[in-house]
Amino acid sequence: MIAFDHAFHGRTNLTLALTAKVIPYKDGFGPFAPEVYRAPAPYPYRGVTSDDALVALSHLFKQDVSAEHVACVVLEPVQGEGGFIPMPEDFPRRLKEVCDQHGILYVDDEVQSGAGRTGPVWAIEHYGVEPDLLVSGKSLGGGLPLAGVTGKAEVMDAVPPGGLGGTFGGNPVACAAAIAVLNEVRTDAFRARAEELGRRTRSRLEDFVAQSHLLGEVRGLGPMLAIEFEERSAEAASRVTAAARERGLVLLSCGIYGNVIRILVPLSIDDALLARGLDLLEESLGDADAA
Ligand SMILES: Cc1ncc(COP(=O)(O)O)c(C=O)c1O
Repeated sequence: MIAFDHAFHGRTNLTLALTAKVIPYKDGFGPFAPEVYRAPAPYPYRGVTSDDALVALSHLFKQDVSAEHVACVVLEPVQGEGGFIPMPEDFPRRLKEVCDQHGILYVDDEVQSGAGRTGPVWAIEHYGVEPDLLVSGKSLGGGLPLAGVTGKAEVMDAVPPGGLGGTFGGNPVACAAAIAVLNEVRTDAFRARAEELGRRTRSRLEDFVAQSHLLGEVRGLGPMLAIEFEERSAEAASRVTAAARERGLVLLSCGIYGNVIRILVPLSIDDALLARGLDLLEESLGDADAA
């Protein structure tokens, strides 16, 4: 399997081998599965382009494992815990071409970016790539616990009946919630609203970056957005999240250095509440800049 820098795929043992953050996730939780290889992912703000990532992948095929022995690549279209890093527009397509050349499956992890979080139902729709497997969760259940694996029949049916499952698999109440979520999320009106929230939020965040000497970049897809502090340390982001908490605004940082603040508002938010939240963030950023 091939996973990428800044990936987060979960906390169970195999997914921890794929996840790329030592503390708090990996330290003390090994040993991990062998034969999981890591390749650089594009990260334009930190100088890693799609070309760099693809060259590194071809080196990996020469140095570590032959492409013919790789079962799959696993990639988030917008890396979530790793810092809200959207893949550049060309990367998923070029990666899929490499996969198709070598018979490697493309696994699209949409646990965080899926179910409307970036505008379309699935973030991979921004890239025009059809993955072989798609993993979903979080927003999919609209608050109820549900995860999904969707794939081409030839992949899904490779497992004998009963070979995939679990105590809570296919819970009817959670599935009913997911059907309601998907019926809503796939409407034009929902997508238009998500995109509008994205535009409003991005424009405020761009002002914050322009005013701050600590912030380096705004990035994201649709309303799945983040601001990154230039310094690779959690200090400034922690000051902002603490100042925001005192004002009643709960924020979550991310990134392997903890120096990114993610904005993932409920897509049902109204304009006034969004504006209020962003005002509180602005005040909290002001505190951090003054410190
Ligand atoms: C991209 C991604 N994949 C997988 C997971 C893990 O999901 P779960 O906690 O349901 O195992 C997460 C959780 O944050 C995630 O963001």
